[in-house]
Amino acid sequence: MNFGHFNAVNKEYVITRPDTPAPWCNYLGSVDYGAIISNNATGYSFVKSGAAGRIIRFRLNSMSNDQPGRFIYIRDNEDGDYWSGSWQPVCKAIDSYKSECRHGTAYTIISSSYKDIESRTLYYVPLDKNYEVWNFRIKNNSTNKRSLSIYGMAEFTNHDHYENDTVNLQYSQFISRTHFKENHILQVINANGSEASADVEGTSNKKGDPIYRFFGLAGQSVSAFDGERDMFIGNYRNYGNPVAVESGKCSNTVSYNGNSFGALQTDIELNPGEEAEMTFLLGAGNGAFARELISKYATVEKTDNCSCEASFDFSQVVSHELKQLKTFWHSRLGNLQVETPDDNFNNMANVWNAYQCFITFFWSRAASFQYCGLRNGLGYRDTVQDIQGIIHLDQNVARERLWLMLSGQVSNGGGLPLVKFDHRPGEEATPDESQYAKETGQSFYRADDALWLFPTVITYIKESGDWDFIDESIPYADKGEATVYIHLKQAIQFNLDRQGSHGLPAGLYADWNDCLRLGSKGESLFVAFQLYYALKIFEEFAVKKGSSADIAWVKGLLEELNGSIQKSAWEGDQYVRGFTEDGYIIGSKNNSEASLWLNPQVWSVISGAAEGEQANAVLDKVYANLNTKYGAMLFYPAFREYGLPVARMSLFNAGTKENAGIFSQPQGWLILAETIIGNGNRAYEYFTEINPAAMNDNAEKRKLEPYIHGQATEGTDTQNHGRSHVHWLTGTASTVMVSMVYGILGLQPEYDGIKINPCIPSNWTNFKMTKVFRNNVLNITVDNSQGVEKGVKYVTVNGKRIDGCYISTDELKATNEIVVVMGE
Ligand code: GLC
Repeated sequence: MNFGHFNAVNKEYVITRPDTPAPWCNYLGSVDYGAIISNNATGYSFVKSGAAGRIIRFRLNSMSNDQPGRFIYIRDNEDGDYWSGSWQPVCKAIDSYKSECRHGTAYTIISSSYKDIESRTLYYVPLDKNYEVWNFRIKNNSTNKRSLSIYGMAEFTNHDHYENDTVNLQYSQFISRTHFKENHILQVINANGSEASADVEGTSNKKGDPIYRFFGLAGQSVSAFDGERDMFIGNYRNYGNPVAVESGKCSNTVSYNGNSFGALQTDIELNPGEEAEMTFLLGAGNGAFARELISKYATVEKTDNCSCEASFDFSQVVSHELKQLKTFWHSRLGNLQVETPDDNFNNMANVWNAYQCFITFFWSRAASFQYCGLRNGLGYRDTVQDIQGIIHLDQNVARERLWLMLSGQVSNGGGLPLVKFDHRPGEEATPDESQYAKETGQSFYRADDALWLFPTVITYIKESGDWDFIDESIPYADKGEATVYIHLKQAIQFNLDRQGSHGLPAGLYADWNDCLRLGSKGESLFVAFQLYYALKIFEEFAVKKGSSADIAWVKGLLEELNGSIQKSAWEGDQYVRGFTEDGYIIGSKNNSEASLWLNPQVWSVISGAAEGEQANAVLDKVYANLNTKYGAMLFYPAFREYGLPVARMSLFNAGTKENAGIFSQPQGWLILAETIIGNGNRAYEYFTEINPAAMNDNAEKRKLEPYIHGQATEGTDTQNHGRSHVHWLTGTASTVMVSMVYGILGLQPEYDGIKINPCIPSNWTNFKMTKVFRNNVLNITVDNSQGVEKGVKYVTVNGKRIDGCYISTDELKATNEIVVVMGE
């Protein structure tokens, strides 16, 4: 069953049935002002931090699909019937109430149609602003004059800290109040907190000042308001039947020792065919700021240059801001556009997977319908991987974030588990000091963190051509500074300094798998392969720099590490996962549970440690034993006996998340590994199994948004096999993107050129791509009339034939016509 479809031209996902199996969301705003909104307008907003800057309330995991949100009610004053501009919260029967939600790039448009009244709300945060706009238009399609009341509501938090607001009621309710001023409600928290006495308008500006938020209405006059939640909703009622809407009149009460709230009512009359426009404004700021905005959005001069295929026009201000957002996003996405025979692939590569990569890049694991925003920083491994997903689209922001993460590396080579939002390079405490644990709740190094820098740094340098980055001096988190090259060398040293008895790197508090506690003597094959890969990349850098001492050093290490891996971890057709401190072998084929693990097999191939027959053998074994129709399980069988203290995933129900679930992030590595050894058909099969878009018509099974990846899908051991969990903020976005761009599409930049070496399903006989590479446009046509999976005979660049698949930048002009001819 499907609930919507992709609109590739508008770069939107259009939801046509509102009763989706879960709230299907979108992100609005930036790191300065964030907002998450579902197809039914539920969700929340915050300034900078989901936990510490929360503006409107949201109840995670509440009944009735997570409420409240940005609701707008419509009441017919003739008969008292009322509904909402989004299907929730009133939830009229969907045979008489029609609705549509269009999630676009940083905006969402929700339309409704009921009893010949049509409405459309456009929600967005203007570029680089700290407030949000709910532009609401309503039209009378009937033949009678209609008398209507419209109510916008925003439920403020009483405290800007999520936890205080939720549980510390004896405090938070008594520091917050609301005021009504003509056409906005002003909320003030800590009105008495400042040394200077707080004036209601919020003009003073001292530390400890009150916090101001507002909810205003532009374009229509307010006929009544509620600044107190319980007056608007009424006792023993809910968002679906607020007493103010049912009775037709807000109570004109402000909040004092209650729940601060913004509800604004306006009464309008519409002749047949007539429409009205109004804009609700919600944000952080004082009364003067609110008034300024209200006057800005009060102008309703129309323009008709909107590409939204709706029957409404936008006012000029709104239209201009929407255009700015689209230009901002579409130009970034435009740096890679593909046209393959598979629309589900195209929709993900061109819009949704790419957009999700930016959202995870910006928001990390901070705020969603599963994460409340309590993490006050950037997880090291997650963030360094997230960068990889956007490098091909925006090298500038990638470089900035990469710099930050390198400055979050400790001088001993390890990564800080969490790089705080207020990170101070050179001055931070490390996990070896209690101060760090106090600040972040993290007291141990992870074995893998800094090793993620290698693929990210090399991808950045090759995509951008910025080789000088390798010699850029960057501070360490705690003390001193070094070039990027030395940072990387130090990252290797961190793992060399922490090894176990098989000569393999220790697994420490965790490797990529958060649930595996191998400790300082237990060893991780995941990290061993990551280290092998790191050494290979470092060798490449050392060669390019001409450092013979480093080349010799790294060659020796590679040989030694490979020897230890093959001697201790190879079992004839698979690698084991690790060794515990007391000698138990995790992931041995002789074990009764967890006897085959996905990650060591795919990482053996990605790292280059396994090649030829060995690589084929491990990937064949994965395909035969771990693959399901919804992707490959992380291992199998699930842990049921073996468990704590090492295998913490045994706490999860079998078949779930890290306990033999289909963890989504490694699916990208699996696809990439298959492309490395030339299995285009199998890579594409795996890709399709986990492609959200390919599940569009089976959305009730997957439950999550069919346009974004989730963290995990349930494996074969559960009754919900195929159901996905934890939407939006997941490393899957970047691993799958990387597998598409560099693996399947084969767009592989080099220092002074680019290889185009696709690995595709053999039935893709022809496809096109447009890639911006070092400011040149590459219009690429791939001719695979021979029907191979991998292999390029020759390319032509602007008519000139070149054998093989490598194109030097010397051959490139501003715009290039490139034909890639695949074949044996
Ligand atoms: C989650 C974490 C990530 C970890 C993974 C596997 O996705 O965010 O850091 O690597 O789980 O445990």
